[in-house]
This record gives sequence, structure tokens and C-alpha cells, in this order.
Amino acid sequence: MWSWGHYWVMNNSQKLIERLLPLARDASARAYSPYSGVRVGAVTVGADDTLHLGCNVENASYGLTQCAERNALATAIAAGQTKGSISALLVYATGFESLTPCGACRQVMSELLAKDALVISCSDSQQPKVWTPETLLPDPFTLDRK
Ligand code: THU
Repeated sequence: MWSWGHYWVMNNSQKLIERLLPLARDASARAYSPYSGVRVGAVTVGADDTLHLGCNVENASYGLTQCAERNALATAIAAGQTKGSISALLVYATGFESLTPCGACRQVMSELLAKDALVISCSDSQQPKVWTPETLLPDPFTLDRK
């Protein structure tokens, strides 16, 4: 169904995709993923339009694998971004339908991203998917006491 909200999201995500997808692709080429062969890249847009990149980093102890999204978010925070200052995150995976972020990444996104941030997932073959932190993870765990 058409709405101004939908129009705003699609228009803004299209602009973000044009700008961020090439960077996420470059980041995915640097993935360390000898076990799964899946290459994932992510880009965050922070305050002052600062961009930070991440890729997935696997390990022989499989459970230690870091996803591209959390890697990009940790890089952004280490570079001075703060809770709520990141307005968009785009993720790209090679040879994949647009992947949907894992539960751990959703939890971290819901804490660090701006409430109205756009989370965009792109692939080479499918239409992009677009969410907000709330639609990706309704009712996340928080230590806020209400
Ligand atoms: N992966 C990500 O980087 N992001 C996701 O949202 C899902 C999965 C990585 C982890 C692992 O290196 C590979 O993709 C296969 O699970």
C-alpha cells in the first residue's frame, strides 16, 4: 500500500544503496570466511555522515565467528560514534538472496542504531530489503527499568 512513510523509506534507501553498496561490496571482498565461504560486508552511516565498514571474520572455533554487521558497528563505536548516532546500516552478501541479519546482530543494532535508522540488505540478485531496528527485533532485551 502506498503511503508517504513508504515513499520516504524507499527514496532514502535508494540513495543510500547507490552510495553504500559499492563500499559494502569492497568490504565483503575482505571477509575471512574459509569455513562457510559466505562473504558479507556492512557499512554504517554515523554522525557527520561518517562511514564505517565491517566484514565477517570466522574462526576454526566456529562459535567465535563475527558477523559483518556487528563488526561494522564495533568499528563505528571504536571510532567515536555513540548510541543512537548511526542512522543507517547496509549489509551485502555475495551470491546470496538478500540475507536477513541474525538474532545477535538484531539485538546489537536495536541498542546502538538510531530508533528510525534504516537497515538495508542487498544482494546481486534480489530486491533490497529494508527494515528499522524495531521491525527487525520488536521488544528487544534492555536493562532500562520502566
Ligand atoms: N553472517 C554475517 O556476517 N551476517 C549475517 O547477518 C549472517 C551471517 C556471516 C557469519 C558467517 O561467517 C557466515 O555469514 C555464514 O553464517
